[in-house]
Amino acid sequence: MLQNQKVVIIGGSSGIGLETAKQAIALGAEVIIASRSEDKLQKAKEQLGAKTAAYTLDTTDEQQVQSFFEKTGTFDHLVVSAAETSGGSFLHTETAQARQLFENKFWGQYYAAKYGAPKLSPNGSITLFSGVVAYKAMIGSSVLGAVNAAVSNLGQTLALELAPIRVNIVSPGIIDTPSRSKMPEGARNDYYASVADKLPVKRVGKAEDVAQSVLYLIQNGFVTGSVLHVDGGHHII
Ligand SMILES: NC(=O)c1ccc[n+]([C@@H]2O[C@H](COP(=O)([O-])OP(=O)(O)OC[C@H]3O[C@@H](n4cnc5c(N)ncnc54)[C@H](OP(=O)(O)O)[C@@H]3O)[C@@H](O)[C@H]2O)c1
Repeated sequence: MLQNQKVVIIGGSSGIGLETAKQAIALGAEVIIASRSEDKLQKAKEQLGAKTAAYTLDTTDEQQVQSFFEKTGTFDHLVVSAAETSGGSFLHTETAQARQLFENKFWGQYYAAKYGAPKLSPNGSITLFSGVVAYKAMIGSSVLGAVNAAVSNLGQTLALELAPIRVNIVSPGIIDTPSRSKMPEGARNDYYASVADKLPVKRVGKAEDVAQSVLYLIQNGFVTGSVLHVDGGHHII
């Protein structure tokens, strides 16, 4: 249970982060969510209810991340699911776009861990987000794969350097979240069906599947430095 515990979820206005906020609140936690869009935060807050505070934050801005943690005060668990990702063929991807992926998903999590750690309880935890393309090479994911691998490696080293704070990494597979809302519905459904067909579990993931794993990592005091694959077996096929 998470009674009297404060959980900060950067990226908590959508998808896996929002579902993690819901499950943490159900276990008794007080939750702070943050992301860039005021509108998404407002809608999330309506779903999450009175025990939630929300702050606008762009994790690519180091200064903003620093001032965000001055506002949160001390807390128990940090979850960083914030990311906006993209793919594309290596030779046709502009270098600026590749660097932007690192800015958003790697440096965003780096800043969050750097400025969040001093505010964490010694019994607390940090959960970072990697992804299956770090563990299974996929055409079109050269940069994202490198970003995700970098996040996993950062997290495992931080588990040693920040101890006794525990640091773990979740590596989701293909999860049906608003992250693919810009894809036309038909193409999205076809993509999910083709992935599901190849997976041992014969379905893509739900935000709930991954949130459950985050809650496990937050609550199990004997787990640190782990990469938890929540991908329906995708990394082993
Ligand atoms: N869904 C998948 O298939 C999948 C697969 C592998 C890995 N993952 C990873 O799982 C994590 C969660 O993904 P999701 O599917 O839940 O995505 P999502 O539904 O798009 O949610 C992403 C969240 O991050 C926030 N965000 C994005 N950039 C930000 C920034 N620079 N600063 C602050 N907040 C930012 C977004 O809100 P704003 O727009 O308001 O900023 C949103 O709340 C990500 O790390 C993603 O790469 C997902």
